[in-house]
Amino acid sequence: MWKGRFSKATADLVQQYGESISYDWRLYKHDIAGSIAHARAQVKAGILTQDEFNQIESGLRSIEIDIDAGKFDFSIELEDIHMNIESELTTRIGAAGGKLHTARSRNDQVATDTRLYCREEIDALTVQIKELQGSLLKKAEQYADALIPGYTHLQRGQPVTVGHHLLAYVEMFARDIDRLADARKRVNVSPLGSGALAGSTINLDRQQIADELGFDRVTTNSMDAISDRDYIMELLFDFALVGTHLSRISEDLILWCSAEFGFATLSDAHTTGSSLMPQKKNPDVCEITRGKTGRLYGNLISLLTAAKGLPLTYNRDLQEDKEPLFDSIDTLKIALAVNTEMIADMTVNVDTCLEAASDPMLLATDLADYLVKNGVPFRSAHELVGQAVAVAVESKTPLDKIDLSKISEHYGADASAVFNLETALKARTNPGAPSIANVKSEVARWKKTL
Ligand code: ARG
Repeated sequence: MWKGRFSKATADLVQQYGESISYDWRLYKHDIAGSIAHARAQVKAGILTQDEFNQIESGLRSIEIDIDAGKFDFSIELEDIHMNIESELTTRIGAAGGKLHTARSRNDQVATDTRLYCREEIDALTVQIKELQGSLLKKAEQYADALIPGYTHLQRGQPVTVGHHLLAYVEMFARDIDRLADARKRVNVSPLGSGALAGSTINLDRQQIADELGFDRVTTNSMDAISDRDYIMELLFDFALVGTHLSRISEDLILWCSAEFGFATLSDAHTTGSSLMPQKKNPDVCEITRGKTGRLYGNLISLLTAAKGLPLTYNRDLQEDKEPLFDSIDTLKIALAVNTEMIADMTVNVDTCLEAASDPMLLATDLADYLVKNGVPFRSAHELVGQAVAVAVESKTPLDKIDLSKISEHYGADASAVFNLETALKARTNPGAPSIANVKSEVARWKKTL
């Protein structure tokens, strides 16, 4: 389709090297929608007759139906989805097909298609992230009052509830959804009409095209419009961060499902066995998710790197945007789906969690707070409780069984009441803290939001 000035056929290896049809075929619906909008604007500009438009539209629709049905032969000689469709259109309808590319380049075409594709996938992924949040929320509700140690440095810190722990992930995914919504604003802009890099002498109504395709506005610099891939990089970052969050849940669940923790059990449907060790029940889904996250990061780095040295405007390097984008979207979709299912089927072993949370050491900070309430400065209180902890460790005695009055006169007879787990949790009433009442009201708030 660009052979006018060439006298030799493209080498086979060059075709193989440069083709993108093997993966960009998935833009076909967007390519067709873009072409129809473009053709309608051509009618308005007097470039096409209504009859020619009708032929183009029905030709493109018939191609769409064939691709939907898997009955379309893509050819690598035609490089990409844009030329495959245009060439087939001309085969089907004749001369009118040859007019479609007026005032358009594959540069603004591919940018348009990719933006439409991204918009659709942002919306689909948002739904999926919400479903995952729904799964986490149900578990958070079920285990709103199940006590569990909260950790820092993977050392037991203070008591929280399973509900509070799971709602932390609901928060992370809410930020992910926000980020996608924000990125969508920059995605949903129409580059069509920017041409190869400098617009066209034939001016089509860009706003009309944008409106037909559901874009919020048109781009305002033709050179930027065709070479901009920021929106893809931004999305790849957003996807990578969703991956980070999924990977952190995975790591929590891997720990929780170990014999050492024993806090949770995943269903048989979401675990796998060992071909050698008959007793094994492995959290492979979690491990795969943790592993796939590396791939999401890789895709981001690939595109950032491909774009960093490019002079304006379009360079063929930019064709390298699509595989990482598609791969991240495919990876994330299945990761979200399987995690949503797995979490919905997970059982928390409430008794084991409670036993771990009942370690009186978890209330050492509360004991310091008790001293503070009796007028001891926090630093001194910390030191005094530290001494009690040392005695407990040394004498292998639980912290709540130490004779505190021997350590400081600031401990009254009521000091041992600090070690009541229920009252300790109840006291954590500030916004964001894990009192059971708070966790329940957060569950209610999220239920409304979702
Ligand atoms: N397949 C190409 C891509 O994805 C389409 C744009 C080609 N433009 C060009 N000037 N060769 O980037």
